[in-house]
Amino acid sequence: MGEKIINIGIVGAGNRGIRCYGLYLMKEKRNSVRIMGISDPDRKRLEFGKKVLNLDDSSVFDDTEKMLSVLPLDAVIITSPDYTHKKIAISAFKKGIDVLCEKPLALTVKDCDDIIREQKKSGKILCVGFVLRYNNFYKKMHEIVNVEKKIGRIIMAGAMDSVSTGSQYFFHGWWRLRKNSGGLLVQKATHSIDILNWVINSRATRVYGEGGLSVFGGNKSNTKRCSSCEIKNTCPEALLENNVQWDYGEGNIKMEIEDKCVFAKEIDVYDHEVLTIAYENGVKAFFVESQFTPDYKREFWFIGDKGRMYGIDPYIVSNKDERKPYIEIVYRHTREKEIIPVKLRPGGHGGGDPGLIEDFLSCCLTRKNPLADGVAGRESIAICAGGEKSIETGKIIKLR
Ligand SMILES: NC(=O)c1ccc[n+]([C@@H]2O[C@H](COP(=O)([O-])OP(=O)(O)OC[C@H]3O[C@@H](n4cnc5c(N)ncnc54)[C@H](O)[C@@H]3O)[C@@H](O)[C@H]2O)c1
Repeated sequence: MGEKIINIGIVGAGNRGIRCYGLYLMKEKRNSVRIMGISDPDRKRLEFGKKVLNLDDSSVFDDTEKMLSVLPLDAVIITSPDYTHKKIAISAFKKGIDVLCEKPLALTVKDCDDIIREQKKSGKILCVGFVLRYNNFYKKMHEIVNVEKKIGRIIMAGAMDSVSTGSQYFFHGWWRLRKNSGGLLVQKATHSIDILNWVINSRATRVYGEGGLSVFGGNKSNTKRCSSCEIKNTCPEALLENNVQWDYGEGNIKMEIEDKCVFAKEIDVYDHEVLTIAYENGVKAFFVESQFTPDYKREFWFIGDKGRMYGIDPYIVSNKDERKPYIEIVYRHTREKEIIPVKLRPGGHGGGDPGLIEDFLSCCLTRKNPLADGVAGRESIAICAGGEKSIETGKIIKLR
C-alpha cells in the first residue's frame, strides 16, 4: 500500500467510531494510519474516546466543524447519528477530505444526491458503511449470480431481516425517532436492500410497503429510563448494564448507552415492515423485516431460470440451530442440491468491518472507487425512504 500515512479524523465517539473503527485502526493499521482527532458534542463520549485511543487534549473536539478546519486531515470517518451525515460529509468534501460515511448515507434521496454532487465536485473518495459487501457470505452470493451465473437469469428475489435488536438498543436510544434515523427501513434495512440491489445488479423503479408499530412504543413517559425503573428486574425489555449485547468491538471496552423505555410515547418508527420492489431489469423482489424476533439473522432468496439460491447468515439463532452461514442452490431441471459453506474472516460483521476499512484506506491511496460507494448508498435509500413513504401514504412510490 505504499509508505504514505493517512491522517484520519473520527466524527462521533460512540460504538462505531471508537469500539469499531478507532480500535481497529489503532491496533491493526498503526503503520499506515494516524488518528489525528475525534469529535463529539457529548463530553463523556469524548473522554471515553480519548482514553481508549490514547489521544491528548488537542485531538478532541466538541465541534466537528472545528476539527475538520483545524486538523490536516486526509480522510474522515463519519459515525455520528444518521441525521448529521449530510452536513458533515458535504463540509468534509468542501475541505478536500476523503469520506467514509456510515450507513445510511443520508435520510432522503435528495440529501444523498447533494452529498454525491459535492463529492464529484471535490474529486474525493466516498465510501458508505455497507460492511456486508465485504463479508464472504454476501460476496459469494454475488459471485454465484453475477460471475458463475449458476442459477441463470434472475427473475425473482427476496430478503428477510430477523432483527432481535429492538430491545437491545434500537428503541432505547436515538434510533427510535424518525427525525434522527429516517425509520427502520432507512436505518437498518438499508444493508440488506443494498445486498438485493448489488446481487440483482439493477436499479429499483417502484416500491410498495406495509408496516406498523406493534410491540414497541406506547404511552410511557419519554424520559423514563431502565436504570431507574421500578420494574427493571422483571421487564424483559429492560436494558441494564449487565445485559448490553455488543455486536462487535472488544468485549472488555464498555461504554454508557441510552436506556430509555421502549414503550415511550415519542417512538415514531415502525417495528415491522414488508416491501415489494420492482427493478429496471424486470426482477421483482420482496423484503421483510421485524425488530422483535428472538433471532438475529439475514436470509436471501434468488430465483433464476436455471435454479433457486437460498442463503442464510445466522448471527444469533435458537440453541439448536447452526451458527454458520451457508448457501444452498437447487437446480431446476435436475433437482440436484448443492450446499456451499462459507468461511468468514475474523472481525465485526463476519469480517465486513475490517474489509470495509481496508477498501477505504486502499482507495484513499489508489484513488479508485470503493466497492460500497455513494451510488450504492443512494440507491438503497431510494428504496428504503420510498418504502417508508409508501407505508405512510398507502401508495406505490415511483423511484424513477
Ligand atoms: N455499518 C454498520 O453495520 C453499522 C452498525 C451500527 C451503526 N452504524 C451507523 O453508525 C453511526 C453511529 O452509530 P453508533 O451505533 O456508533 O451510535 P452511537 O450513539 O454509539 O454513537 C454516535 C455518537 O455520535 C455523537 N454525535 C452526535 N452528534 C454529533 C455531531 N454532530 N458530530 C459528532 N458526533 C456527534 C453522539 O454523541 C454519539 O457519541 C450511525 O449512523 C449508525 O447508523 C452502522
